[in-house]
Amino acid sequence: MAFGRHKLAVLLLVLSISLLLYLLLPTAKPEPEEPKLEILRSEPQDNLNVTVRRATLSGDWPTFYREAVPRSPLEGGPPERFTVLLLHGQSFTSKTWEDLGTLQILSEHGYRALAIDLPGQSLQAQPMSSEKGRTDYLLHIMESLGTRQLVLISPSMSGLFSLPLLLQHPDRLRGFIPIAPVGTKGFKREQYQQIQVPTLIVYGTLDNNLGVQSLESLQNLPNHTLGPLKGAGHACYMDRPEEFHSSLLMFLSKL
Ligand SMILES: *[C@@H]1O[C@H](CO)[C@@H](O)[C@H](O)[C@H]1NC(C)=O
Ligand SMILES: *[C@@H]1O[C@H](CO)[C@@H](O)[C@H](O)[C@H]1NC(C)=O
Repeated sequence: MAFGRHKLAVLLLVLSISLLLYLLLPTAKPEPEEPKLEILRSEPQDNLNVTVRRATLSGDWPTFYREAVPRSPLEGGPPERFTVLLLHGQSFTSKTWEDLGTLQILSEHGYRALAIDLPGQSLQAQPMSSEKGRTDYLLHIMESLGTRQLVLISPSMSGLFSLPLLLQHPDRLRGFIPIAPVGTKGFKREQYQQIQVPTLIVYGTLDNNLGVQSLESLQNLPNHTLGPLKGAGHACYMDRPEEFHSSLLMFLSKL
């Protein structure tokens, strides 16, 4: 008799749990998808206390990226500050920032430094041919990296990606460092005037084309600092890496 009652109690318990689950299920939100990161290679750098990792982020637009990480983050290094994401110009890739040492220097100064390879070939095709597609792409990268706000470094062609993000989602940028970006004329002076994001405008003083053209528009950003690189051309960070790095670090330290 006691055994039968016990059975009934278990049955009722199972039934009520099932009912509860049934009621809860439709409203249960799916867990946000974990960023999937496939580490391809990690290489310690000679003379520097950092390692450069090469990895791909999965998702709708798989993205190759490089990230410099302090080799022993717990030992004496500065605590990690915010994320700095480096884009690149038409004839360059994320490797440019590794070769120039920018990733390593930023990491050594405590920033989470990442460089991605932008989708190049497909710029003519959807979704990259639209401003919204390119903005969504950067937002997707930020989500995959688990960061809500970052500092964006954006030379030349990459302006097609960074400028729409700056103008439509300024709250997602902690700082902006345009380097003679493409596409500044696509927005009105009044649009720039409304953006409060701290901006370091970098350009080579010999860059008479895009340098001059982009400066005209970017100067309308109310909180800007000028970072001219004397005697440098369009890819001014390649011509004057030391000056570029020091003005970059100076700017970042004030954010
Ligand atoms: C690497 O880190 C160690 C310990 O923090 C330090 O003594 C050494 O100077 C660092 N090396 C470089 C090249 O920064
Ligand atoms: C302008 O940018 C600087 C950092 O470069 C920041 O400290 C300051 O608060 C900003 N000013 C405004 C009005 O947002």
